[in-house]
Amino acid sequence: MNSQERIAFLRKELSSHNHSYYVKDTSVISDVEFDQLLSELQKLENQYPNLFDANSPTQRVGGEVLDGFTAVKHKYRMLSLGNTYSAEDLHDFDLRINKLTDDDFEYVCELKYDGISISLTYENGELTQALTRGDGAQGDDVTHNVKTIKSIPLKLKGDYPKKFEIRGEIFLPIASLASMNEIRVQKGLEPYANPRNTASGSIKLLDSKEVAKRPLDCYLYYLLGDNLPTKKHFDNLQKARDWGFKIPSEIESYKTINEVLKFIEKWDLKRHDLPYEIDGIVIKVNDINLQQEMGFTAKSPRWAISYKFKAEQVATILEEITYQVGRTGAITPVANLTPVLLAGTTVKRASLHNADQIQKLDIREGDKVFVEKGGEIIPKVIGVDLSVRDLFSRPTLYISYCPSCNTELVRKDGDVKHYCPNTERCSPQIKGRFEHFISRKAMNIDGLGAETIELLIQERLISKVSDLYLLEKEDVLPLERMAEKSAVNLILGLEASKSIPFERVLFGLGIRYVGETVAKVLVKHFKTIDRIINADMETMISVDEIGDKIAESIISYFSQQKNINLIIDLKNSGLQFVSKIEDTSKSDLLKGMKIVVSGVFNHYSRSELKKMIEEHGGKNVGSISKSTTFVLFGENMGPSKKVKAESLGVNMVNEDEFLAKIS
Ligand code: IVH
Repeated sequence: MNSQERIAFLRKELSSHNHSYYVKDTSVISDVEFDQLLSELQKLENQYPNLFDANSPTQRVGGEVLDGFTAVKHKYRMLSLGNTYSAEDLHDFDLRINKLTDDDFEYVCELKYDGISISLTYENGELTQALTRGDGAQGDDVTHNVKTIKSIPLKLKGDYPKKFEIRGEIFLPIASLASMNEIRVQKGLEPYANPRNTASGSIKLLDSKEVAKRPLDCYLYYLLGDNLPTKKHFDNLQKARDWGFKIPSEIESYKTINEVLKFIEKWDLKRHDLPYEIDGIVIKVNDINLQQEMGFTAKSPRWAISYKFKAEQVATILEEITYQVGRTGAITPVANLTPVLLAGTTVKRASLHNADQIQKLDIREGDKVFVEKGGEIIPKVIGVDLSVRDLFSRPTLYISYCPSCNTELVRKDGDVKHYCPNTERCSPQIKGRFEHFISRKAMNIDGLGAETIELLIQERLISKVSDLYLLEKEDVLPLERMAEKSAVNLILGLEASKSIPFERVLFGLGIRYVGETVAKVLVKHFKTIDRIINADMETMISVDEIGDKIAESIISYFSQQKNINLIIDLKNSGLQFVSKIEDTSKSDLLKGMKIVVSGVFNHYSRSELKKMIEEHGGKNVGSISKSTTFVLFGENMGPSKKVKAESLGVNMVNEDEFLAKIS
């Protein structure tokens, strides 16, 4: 066998092992043997760069680091599904479907995977493109990242159509999230909240090598194309399984809606035994000709619907209410519960949000409370079982002093939360500020975690974030569990963070109400920190999206000399305080105009039009009011919007008229 043949052999062999392991859950060879074959292939490929193949198994480790993703228009729009919540809703759906056809038909029932949807394009048996849903009309090209997901075939086998799309859901198995979190907690990082957000965050990482480390998986559930093998959705999926795709086996076809309801009932109970999260059941008409006849509404197919499971609730005892102090001094009351099993996990704590919530629900220690888990991992207390309340129980008296530093709490008019005003000396606030500053979305400092921060504070090496940049290797080496390598990494991480863009530095400062988005808005508008510092109230609120509350908070932050000094120190250390955000504005033609975009358009997608509005100085608003300048309308504009626009006498502008306005 010459080298070229050996490369071809190894590629085939390795993809077949990948398929056995990640799609069929059976392993034929050991990990060590697999790695040996892979490294042999890698070596050969290095020797023969002319035999490069973008879909070789060696490409699964990632490598490409992007600046951002390219938006690509979907060939077939990626729509969502209508939701139903009850048997009654489903009977209505069944009636609607029966009105749309006189023929006999079948329903196909599938699990509704709770992840991020993906559309894969295959040409001549090779994966050529992977797009996220985006706004439905165009999505982000995440091909490099998707190639690292081992259960997604890069090359197909068997008798596949020349060109087609297949859609499915990328998800993170529950156990994989748990092991990722174990490592994060060890490193002193905040655990990821839930599998869905983590999967979605992972697929949007710019470094595909990082994505390769995330144990993502993918089920496929929808084929699109001109030359599909059969005219039945169910049968097409079975064929796709033969081509190498991971097709769920939990899929059934039924003749009646009552059988569909039984499938739902079964999975409502069994869903907690699954190794991944599902949030409902999807019901589809099986016959593709019928699907085409029934068509789509503006938002979703008429031939399919989802049934959403109810959020699960349990009752347990509220043993004690404790209070947490956040980095801004905000106090959050926490319910400490008698541990109880809820949706597959043991729940011990739940958020009580604020004093008003406790008062409104009259929540008291010792109460039997109902706890519900929605999309997020942190469950909430949604009510009290008053019928079993202890006769001697007393209403909850909200704390008046900080549980950490004992300073009297304040609650300003309009705030839902109480705050500890001792920003300088209250330790959870100091620690929280550092943790926020170094967090992934802010300075993203590699090699620095919550534990090290705590030690550095304890040792009085740091008291404000600018002190971090004065640290030297020799300062941190004596810290507990700090080896030479970690010390070097920490210093390198700090050094690298000096090139983090201004908007993230601004976000990292932790100014109240200045989240990621507001930070971006401010940087885009003011460009430099000096202009932000010098902006008065009027200038500040003239910026779109900046209201009184945010403006007051920013002005008050920069009115304090200690914060100005902090900025000076950070500037001296070389952090970014000038914008690199590209100026995308093209004209002022729509300045001061409030525009509602509604309907489907011929030349551009809705999001493209909205972008143009902003580029020409206009503002996109969601609903029509007297102050709306005009409605940019397309086909199928919502009837209620139309009536409202007419009754308020708001101008209606079509796509061509709009394009003329800005040209
Ligand atoms: S079919 C036109 N099948 O649910 C119909 N979607 O709310 C396309 N989803 O965006 C979707 N499991 O991300 C379909 N078995 C399944 C699904 C499923 C999860 C997601 C998908 C879609 C969303 C709709």
